[in-house]
Amino acid sequence: MDTFVIEGGRRLEGRVTVNGAKNAALPLMAAALLTNEPVTLRDVAPLADIRNLQRLLAELGCHKAEADPAQPAVVKLQTTDESCSHARYEIVRTMRAGICVLGPMLAKRGEAKVSMPGGCSIGDRPVDLHLRGLAALGARITLRGGDIIAEAPAGGRLHGAKVFLGGPFGSTVLGTANVMSAATLAEGITIIESAACEPEIVDLADLLMKMGAQIEGAGSPRITVYGVKELKGADHRVIPDRIEAGTYMCIAAATNGNITIDNCPLDAMMSVTDRLEAAGVHIRRMGHNRQGDPAPEDPMRVSVKVTCDRILRPVEVTTQPHPGFPTDLQAQLMALLCLAEGNSVITEKIFPERFLHVAELSRMGAHLFRQGPTVIISGVRRLVGAPVMASDLRASASLVLAGLAAEGTTVVNRVYHLDRGYERMEEKLNMLGAAIERVDDKSLTDDQRGG
Ligand code: EPU
Repeated sequence: MDTFVIEGGRRLEGRVTVNGAKNAALPLMAAALLTNEPVTLRDVAPLADIRNLQRLLAELGCHKAEADPAQPAVVKLQTTDESCSHARYEIVRTMRAGICVLGPMLAKRGEAKVSMPGGCSIGDRPVDLHLRGLAALGARITLRGGDIIAEAPAGGRLHGAKVFLGGPFGSTVLGTANVMSAATLAEGITIIESAACEPEIVDLADLLMKMGAQIEGAGSPRITVYGVKELKGADHRVIPDRIEAGTYMCIAAATNGNITIDNCPLDAMMSVTDRLEAAGVHIRRMGHNRQGDPAPEDPMRVSVKVTCDRILRPVEVTTQPHPGFPTDLQAQLMALLCLAEGNSVITEKIFPERFLHVAELSRMGAHLFRQGPTVIISGVRRLVGAPVMASDLRASASLVLAGLAAEGTTVVNRVYHLDRGYERMEEKLNMLGAAIERVDDKSLTDDQRGG
C-alpha cells in the first residue's frame, strides 16, 4: 500500500492548476446512460473513483472510447448495449457514487438493479431520499438480496410529479442528480422541491440541457423538469473542483506560502473564502491566467493568489449544504485552524460523524476537544510530525496539510483514499517546494508505520 513520507516545515510557493471536479464528473458520466449517442466530457480527472465508475458503466453497456493520448482528460462514453442493468455489489462497494447510475438507467431502460451502497467511514449514508424521489415518479422499488430493484410503470416510462428531497441533514446531492436525470425522460412535468443547490447539480443540468432536456431552476431549491421523449449526445467541459481548490488554499495558508491557483471556481467558493479571510488568509483574484492572457470572464475559472498573515485568527465554522461551508473541506480547515492563535469551533451539520481526522491530528500535537458534532480547536504554536492513518479522502488531505506544516517527518499511511479524489497530489505539492515521497509501506520501518 502506498504511503506518503512528508518532510514538513517548508514554505510552498508557485502555481497549481485545479482539475475538473470529481463530484461533478461522476453524475455527468452516468448521464451517458440516458442516450445511445456519444457523450464527450472534457477535464475529467484521472482519479480512482472515475476509473471505477467507468468500469461500472462498461458492465452496463456504456463504453469509453479509446482515449486520445494528446487529450487524456477527454472521456467519450457511448451506450451501445442495454441488456445488463445490474450494478453489482463488487463495484458499488468500492465507490458509493455508483448509486448515480440508478436514475438514468431506470428512466432510459424502464428498469434498474443497483446494489444498495453500505455505510462508509464518514457515516451511515442512507439513500432513502433517492428512492422516495424515484417512487414519486412512478417507479416500483423493492429490495432483494441487497439490491435495489426499480421498475418503471407499465409502458416503461416514468411520469412527472412533485418531489420533496429534504431530509434531516438538508437535501441530497446525488439524490437530486438521480431524480433530475430520471425526470428528463419522464412523461410530463416534475418539480423537485428542496433540491440540492450545489454547483455540481448546475453542471449536470447544463449537460442534460445540451442533450435536449428541458430544465429550469438548477442551482436553486426548486428545479422544474419538462420531460422529453429522448435525449441526444453532447460535448461538455466539467467544472473545476472547488474542493481541490479549497484544499490548496488551506495548504497555502498552513505553510505560510504564496500559491497561485489556476482554473479556480471562485464563484462557487464564497463560504470558503469568507471563512479563510476571517482567519487571516488573503485571496486575491489575478488579472492574468497562467499563459499571461487577461483573466477569462468566466468566474468559475479564474486564477487566485493565496497568501497569509503570519498569525492566523481563530474562526467559527458550520458545515452546511451549498452555498454554506462544504463538509468536504471541514477536515482541511480543521488542520489549518490547529495553528490559529486562540479557540476555533467547527460544527459538522452534514455528516455529524465525519471526524476521523481528529484523533490523528491529535497525534501530531493538535489540541482538539470533540463533543458530538462539534470540535473545539485550541490553536498550538506548532504541529509535530508523526505516523498517521488516513481513513477517508478528505481526512487524508487534512493529514497531508498538517504534515506539510509540521516540524519533522509525517508518514501518512493508506494514501489510496487520497488518490480517489486528488490527482498526483504529491507531484503537484513537490512542484510548489514540498518534500513528499510516495513509498510502498513495505519499505518503511515499524516506527515510521506507527508500530
Ligand atoms: N441523506 C439522507 N438520505 C438520503 C441521502 C442523503 O438522509 O437518501 C443524508 C446524508 O446521510 C447526509 C446528507 O443527507 O447527512 C447529505 O448527503 P448527500 O446525499 O448530499 O451526499 P452524497 O450525494 O452521497 C455528495 C458528495 C460527497 C459530499 C456530499 C455532501 C459525490 C460523489 N459525493 O455525496 O463527497 O460530502 O455530497 O456535499 O458527489 C467527498 O468528495 O469526499 C464526498 C464525500
